[in-house]
Amino acid sequence: MTKSISVKTQKIKLTRPDTVFAAAIAIVSTTADFDPLSLDKYLHNQEKKQLQGLKAPARQRSFILGRYAVKLALKKLAFKGHLKQIKVINGVFGQPVIHCKTLCNMQTAISHSDHTAAAVVFPEEHPVNVDVEFIRASAQKTLNNCITDWEKKAVKETELKELNGLFCLWSAKESLSKMLKIGMTSPFRIFEIKEIKTLAHGMLIFYRHFGQYKTISWQHNNYIFSLTIPAKTETDLDLPRLKI
Ligand SMILES: CC(C)(COP(=O)(O)OP(=O)(O)OC[C@H]1O[C@@H](n2cnc3c(N)ncnc32)[C@H](O)[C@@H]1OP(=O)(O)O)[C@@H](O)C(=O)NCCC(=O)NCCS
Repeated sequence: MTKSISVKTQKIKLTRPDTVFAAAIAIVSTTADFDPLSLDKYLHNQEKKQLQGLKAPARQRSFILGRYAVKLALKKLAFKGHLKQIKVINGVFGQPVIHCKTLCNMQTAISHSDHTAAAVVFPEEHPVNVDVEFIRASAQKTLNNCITDWEKKAVKETELKELNGLFCLWSAKESLSKMLKIGMTSPFRIFEIKEIKTLAHGMLIFYRHFGQYKTISWQHNNYIFSLTIPAKTETDLDLPRLKI
């Protein structure tokens, strides 16, 4: 296998009953031997300083891939300048915040797992969040302990293999937890799923205690992706075109 990086970007139309918002998603995936430090030319000077403070190579990689994905999504949506003009910092709860003189009111969400990162950018009026999980058998027992009996049964009824289904639920919940800015610090039961519908290329997930949101989850290769949006929003997300 040769060292490579694959990038998929897509504009997303977020259609509400009375209006339409525009967002964009970027998915960046590399082979294991690709050096993400080669992307540091796209980092803002302050991001470079932050990178220097990160000790673990895996964290350096996720930091760069996540920032790169945000910037590519912004470019897809509207941004015309050099990517290093954009700075993404973390707020007090760890949530990513965009700083850029020429961008107004744009927000972002980031996720990374293994050699892949995903980011969405969206206007403040319309929240969106994203998650990506590398599917690994070693997590099966832990994930099984985090879900309800109804969720276990629901996973078995989907077309996904059990392990992939468990990751799908986990990823959906993590995306919701980031949408709420609380992360997975609360008891798992608050993220309980109440309904799973099968889509042509993925799943649509609804929550028992957060009726305002829904999540579209899909699998590409060994990864599960989740996009959480308000329940009353329709999207034109083209999942086959996002395949990495
Ligand atoms: C938030 C959390 C679910 C992310 O888990 P993870 O396995 O790193 O998941 P992902 O790769 O999908 O997401 C990481 C990204 O989420 C974003 N993020 C982190 N915390 C966030 C939060 N509270 N709300 C929204 N987004 C958040 C960041 O952009 C981060 O990437 P970056 O550090 O490179 O900028 C996890 O860290 C968690 O549960 N934390 C609980 C602790 C917590 O929320 N503390 C708040 C400070 S008091």
